[in-house]
Amino acid sequence: MASSILHEIRQPLFSIKGYVQMLLLEAHKSGKVDERLVKVHELVEDLERRASSYLDFSRDPDDQMIPLDINDPIRGAVRMFQHRVDKLRVQVHLELASGLPPVRGSFSLLQQVLVNLLQNAVHALQDRDFSEPRHIWIRSRLGDSGKQVEVLFADNGAGIRAEHAGKVFEFFFTTKAVGEGTGLGLAISQEIVQAHQGELRLWDAAEWDCSAAPRPTTVFRMALPVLERG
Ligand SMILES: Nc1ncnc2c1ncn2[C@@H]1O[C@H](COP(=O)(O)OP(=O)(O)O)[C@@H](O)[C@H]1O
Ligand SMILES: [Mg+2]
Repeated sequence: MASSILHEIRQPLFSIKGYVQMLLLEAHKSGKVDERLVKVHELVEDLERRASSYLDFSRDPDDQMIPLDINDPIRGAVRMFQHRVDKLRVQVHLELASGLPPVRGSFSLLQQVLVNLLQNAVHALQDRDFSEPRHIWIRSRLGDSGKQVEVLFADNGAGIRAEHAGKVFEFFFTTKAVGEGTGLGLAISQEIVQAHQGELRLWDAAEWDCSAAPRPTTVFRMALPVLERG
């Protein structure tokens, strides 16, 4: 579960903060405060805050597992991003299958996964030239075996370099500038999806079945088991 990993992370984080505060105190006393140390302190506090908010999140009563249509948390997350995608002129293409069988899940946790994917996609798209159209595609469909509901999440942003592909789900792996990324989004998302007996992976963008340009550069695939009716 995501929350048990977060508990483990919070403990050493708390110790790190203690040491950094001790160093800060000494620096203040000697009148030589290194700005880099101040930055480290800020970042550790930020990480601690995020870890705590995720923990609170997983105690939220909304996190109860209920039968739901995967399209609902998708639409909820997209709504939360409407303003940002409009501002950046990103076109969001929702290709959501209707009449999908339900999955068993937490609306808010699954919505959080979609929010994390959207956040990354928007970040990867924002540096693109305005002349180049920015796109996000979100597809839902019944998997081939009929036993899984699939969500394909794609963007035509900067893309993931081949040497990073194996690392993006690791805790604290980030290619973003200090203060812009924590490297927690995908790691936590994968934990959440696994807690739903599902899987979240990178998918080969070449497999995207759409002949028309533009094509995605990055595709994630989430699969959740179809709820068996007892
Ligand atoms: N849609 C995407 N396009 C390009 N790179 C991505 C995308 N999603 C994730 N990444 C890469 O994976 C890394 C880890 O993502 P994440 O776990 O969400 O942490 P963070 O966003 O804080 O860096 C990012 O720093 C980025 O390098
Ligand atoms: Mg992220």
